[in-house]
Amino acid sequence: MADSQRKILVTSALPYANGSIHLGHLLEHIQTDIWTRFQRLRGHQCYSVCADDAHGTPVMLKAQELGISPEDMVEQTRQEHHQDLCDFHVNYDNYYITHSPENRELSELIYQRLDDAGYISKRVISQLYDPQKEMFLPDRFVKGTCPSCGAEDQNGDSCDVCSATYSPTEVINPRSVVSGATPVLKDSEHYFFDLPQFEDMLKGWLRSGAIQEEMANKLQEWFAEGLQQWDISRDAPYFGFEIPGAPGKFFYVWVDAPVGYMASFKHYCDQHNIDFNEYWNADSDAELYHFIGKDITYFHCLFWPAMLEGAGFRKPTGVNVHGFVTVNGAKMSKSKGTFIKGRTYLDHLNPEYLRYYFASKLSDGVMDIDLNFDDFISKVNSDLVGKVVNIASRCAGFINKKFDATLSENVAEPQLVAEFQQASTGIAEAFEKRQYNRAIREIMRLADKANQYIDAQAPWVTIKDESKQQFTHEVCSLGINLFRILMVYLKPVLPELAEKSEAFLNDTLNWDSSQHLLTNHKISKFKALLQRVDSDKVNAMIEASKENLQATNNDAPPVDSELSKDPISETISFDDFAKIDLRIAKIAKAEHVEGADKLLKLQLDLGGETKQVFAGIKSAYDPASLEGKLTVMVANLAPRKMRFGLSEGMVLAAGPGGKDLWIMEPHEGAQPGMRVK
Ligand code: 2FM
Ligand code: ZN
Repeated sequence: MADSQRKILVTSALPYANGSIHLGHLLEHIQTDIWTRFQRLRGHQCYSVCADDAHGTPVMLKAQELGISPEDMVEQTRQEHHQDLCDFHVNYDNYYITHSPENRELSELIYQRLDDAGYISKRVISQLYDPQKEMFLPDRFVKGTCPSCGAEDQNGDSCDVCSATYSPTEVINPRSVVSGATPVLKDSEHYFFDLPQFEDMLKGWLRSGAIQEEMANKLQEWFAEGLQQWDISRDAPYFGFEIPGAPGKFFYVWVDAPVGYMASFKHYCDQHNIDFNEYWNADSDAELYHFIGKDITYFHCLFWPAMLEGAGFRKPTGVNVHGFVTVNGAKMSKSKGTFIKGRTYLDHLNPEYLRYYFASKLSDGVMDIDLNFDDFISKVNSDLVGKVVNIASRCAGFINKKFDATLSENVAEPQLVAEFQQASTGIAEAFEKRQYNRAIREIMRLADKANQYIDAQAPWVTIKDESKQQFTHEVCSLGINLFRILMVYLKPVLPELAEKSEAFLNDTLNWDSSQHLLTNHKISKFKALLQRVDSDKVNAMIEASKENLQATNNDAPPVDSELSKDPISETISFDDFAKIDLRIAKIAKAEHVEGADKLLKLQLDLGGETKQVFAGIKSAYDPASLEGKLTVMVANLAPRKMRFGLSEGMVLAAGPGGKDLWIMEPHEGAQPGMRVK
């Protein structure tokens, strides 16, 4: 072992218990798992825990929608998530749930300590409330018109059109996403955690190198804006833990979620006789690392260390932030079939392909990682099958058939062996720093060298020459040994391939195995270790992901901020259709627009109200011929500022386009201003 044994505890962010594990989650779990396996391979004590994040409004509503209790739903989801992760060889010591007795106890303890130390205060605030559903509405359950630009149907806290952020109480014409009712403002007493008290401590902790520099810089912006009191309570109905001494008030899900890291570990410690306090006491000498996505940095780098400090626990040694996954260069999309669930992937492809691909791209930065399927296929096939496994398959047959399945006593090329062994330090350093892409590059450089060596010696030629039997034996034995060293380095990334290789080599690999060779050693029969990626299977997986969409169109509102703006469907609901205000309008005036190729400027009479609309129907109509005719217009479209002036709606015309765009002739019965539906 390179250094003395470390005590390490590692976590991944806890997936919400109301949706499936998808490739975005898997990037993180695989990143964590590789790091954990690497530490264990090096001989360190490294525990890893995770759990499902069970609480909060979206989970509660999803359970209601399914007609089951939230307890049952989250437990079912937990099992499904755990199985998915196991099938990707993501190996947590404990995969628990935040709705657990340990988590309740620890959350209450932390809260009690914060309260005793004077960090909790109460204050009445006014929030939007759904009078029909009788619940307060989290920001994302309010929609309405953006107070900044007037765009309709925007989220309760931000506008997709102009990017403004605002409070849900500022939204114009707000409505509840849950019931459609118009929310009302209602007062309620809330509990606040005094985050600003921790400003100096947090700045110091961030300076300790706990987080990547780029994220630390981002956090400086939050300090510059000023830390705020954090609202940690939610009113019933809420699926969560009730705050002690505060009936009807619950801990906000983000309070007990990170405590869930402790609780999952506590559960494991209790079953395995491990001292929990050794890892969590303020003076702990163990290391604690959280792996998270960049969207939840705020929670992990401000609230969480402050809660731990305030409650007398240790703070994380490091928070390792990664970027999001894009697929074929774009955000994962349900309609394109690139929103791929873990289970759909597993139905078609070997999990180790994905582990390898992500490893080959992951660095210690927060850039997004693109999963490009052409690149995925070629990288896995050329690196793993064409380079690494190829070394063993070229040499194993000769050893097995001609040399009694026994590796030679002597090893040729000590220089080459030394190069492979000396690479151990640099590769270990790259894994330690989460620069997996660097580790993989180095491993593949060595794999190329091994193949070049075998190419140059051409054992398939020398085997035919009786006088070169020992030479051939030594060349092939060296080939197997070089393959073995590469598998040591790849073992954190490819546990299944490593296991099969161990069976073939009759050996157990740990990190130090690279420093000695197998000589005069029996190996087993060589079986194919890895299949090439079949592009038809990749395509079938994408197709199946499109089908998923139809089957699960009614999924609960997405909970991942990274996915929440994904187009879910190409159709609109009846409710959406009902919102469109279609009216008969009389074209009072029509004129050319100077500088516009396609537009006509129309004044539309809606029976008392006139609206100006720029319509792209110039190709079909001479303006004069339009005056006095009737058309149908969308009367409630948000006004749009165009280069030529304000457009206050849209006219509907039918037909194939060009000259053939038809607008109604006036006929009896249709009157300007009449509703069309
Ligand atoms: O963003 C999320 O998916 C959260 N469920 C992560 C929670 S991590 C931790 F704090 F529990
Ligand atoms: Zn806006």
